[in-house]
Amino acid sequence: MPLITFAGRTYQASSQRPLLETLLSHGLPVPYSCRSGYCHSCLMKVEKGNVPACSQQSLNIEKIQQGYFLACQCRPEQDMEISLAKRDKIPAIITGKTRLTPTLVALDIAPRHSFEYQPGQLITLWATDVPLLFKQGSGHSNSSNELARPCYLASLAEQDKQLTVHIQRRVNSQFSQWAHDCTQIGQKISISDVRGTKIYQNLSSNNLIVVQDGCLAPVLPLLRKLCASSATAGKSIQLVLQVDHKDNLYGMTLVNRFAQQCPDFNVRVCCGLQGKKQLEQILKTSGSLPESSDSRLIISGYQDFIRKYTQQVQMNIQLLPYS
Ligand code: FES
Repeated sequence: MPLITFAGRTYQASSQRPLLETLLSHGLPVPYSCRSGYCHSCLMKVEKGNVPACSQQSLNIEKIQQGYFLACQCRPEQDMEISLAKRDKIPAIITGKTRLTPTLVALDIAPRHSFEYQPGQLITLWATDVPLLFKQGSGHSNSSNELARPCYLASLAEQDKQLTVHIQRRVNSQFSQWAHDCTQIGQKISISDVRGTKIYQNLSSNNLIVVQDGCLAPVLPLLRKLCASSATAGKSIQLVLQVDHKDNLYGMTLVNRFAQQCPDFNVRVCCGLQGKKQLEQILKTSGSLPESSDSRLIISGYQDFIRKYTQQVQMNIQLLPYS
């Protein structure tokens, strides 16, 4: 069994179990959120020894070379000495809170200093001094009462002074409950880690954008950026919004404005059970068209949704995965 040294003490780990679980079982203060290699909350650094390559898969080359890895993706194969990653967190303040749908809230956030980002990118939001209520069950907290969550940026850097994120209330997410029930204007939070693919740079001639209920955030700045440029010339864009109920539609003012400006833009709402069948049909048709080699599917949604609707598709796919 590999031995793991952390903060001056040594623990027995298992190559059958994620290192994150081992550390948490000893009550160690390791931040986490998604447990699936997506949010980067559990970023750690190896000081001595080697980490399995799969625990570095989603990190950039610079971080890999510096020995960073994700504890939730690491099943240790040998003895290691590890430490928590030092993070450059930017202090920020919540400046606005708007309910978009019955289960979706938008937070406006003013960071202490501005930074560059593009449509399709996300940040990690850190909540501090979280009430004890949120320290139980899944999701995360650690000994310093922190919660972390990756959030797509719904704002557009060149037009907005503040950042905007959308947070869906999820039964098993402490962060989402905190964001919905405990946040208020003036509250301090932190942000870190701008990352993710810049979708604006990856448009093809034919673009099908599929958005799961509540996951429109990364697409809104894309539409705004396209509205303000001539980049849509010669490009066709079809936006398909899947919603469980029509009350869950939001962002339609912008979508309709974009439809007026862009001649080759279509929007379709797929609502309820019938809508899911329509969505399957749209994907089947688009993926089998002769010109599908110059087509791109941009799909924004939770991982099970993405898995289900991308299985049979032959087009180039750009994922905007939620966790
Ligand atoms: S908890 Fe490890 S990446 Fe999210």
